[in-house]
Amino acid sequence: MIPFLLITDLDNTLVGDDAALAELNHQLDYHRKEYGSQLVYSTGRSVTLYHRLTTEQPLLEPDALILSVGTEVYLQGSDIPNAEWADRLSQNWDRELVVATAAHFADLTSQPDSEQRPFKVSYFLTEAVAGEVIPQLEVLLKDQGLDVQLIYSGGLDLDILPRQANKGQAMTFLRETLGISPSQTIACGDSGNDLAMFADRPERGIIVGNAMPELLEWHYANPNGDRYLAQAHCAGGILEGLQHFGFLAV
Ligand code: GLC
Ligand code: MG
Repeated sequence: MIPFLLITDLDNTLVGDDAALAELNHQLDYHRKEYGSQLVYSTGRSVTLYHRLTTEQPLLEPDALILSVGTEVYLQGSDIPNAEWADRLSQNWDRELVVATAAHFADLTSQPDSEQRPFKVSYFLTEAVAGEVIPQLEVLLKDQGLDVQLIYSGGLDLDILPRQANKGQAMTFLRETLGISPSQTIACGDSGNDLAMFADRPERGIIVGNAMPELLEWHYANPNGDRYLAQAHCAGGILEGLQHFGFLAV
């Protein structure tokens, strides 16, 4: 068995099937102790909502954390976001102008204060109007000279982030910082903000069986042998994918 770096989303990916999570935790715990594998959580949640989840679910202590949709990287043991990553994101980022531009759209409702972060501005946007609003917002942001990215997840959440930051770019930054090869790195996810971990990345991917249409449609349109679509849901899908790639014994 070779050590691997597992980078997994939390909501509806790692978390969602209690029995499967217990089994995956057991196997990961063993693999970390025996072979030095590493576990990283990559979530859209802020540090506040991440800590809340740790009180509700039996999560293993991770080796590192990627929070707020890739805009914050926390290396092992640190409570402070990695400064090198923050530095990169601050280039060309004008948070106030993003907020002022988005204020022109009545359909955008601000998410709670805890989810508004230095490099992340987040709204709720219903699916019924998302297809119309997002392209218009994109144009207006560009007209203001802003080079940002819009990420729509779960048919409800809209995140506006610096161009340099998403879960995929943060994953590669972390993997390189830890010195682990792409072929020993596996990303797992279920929704729109996870897509960046699978698109144009050298790492391997597992999409859980309960993935959202927004991610599945992209997956089918962009086939890749390094990406596995599991049948099982949530942690069961991660187990299935790790076995598929030979990282865990069947
Ligand atoms: C999490 C975050 C939220 C974000 C969403 C999608 O739910 O709390 O702010 O919009 O993930 O990325
Ligand atoms: Mg999710």
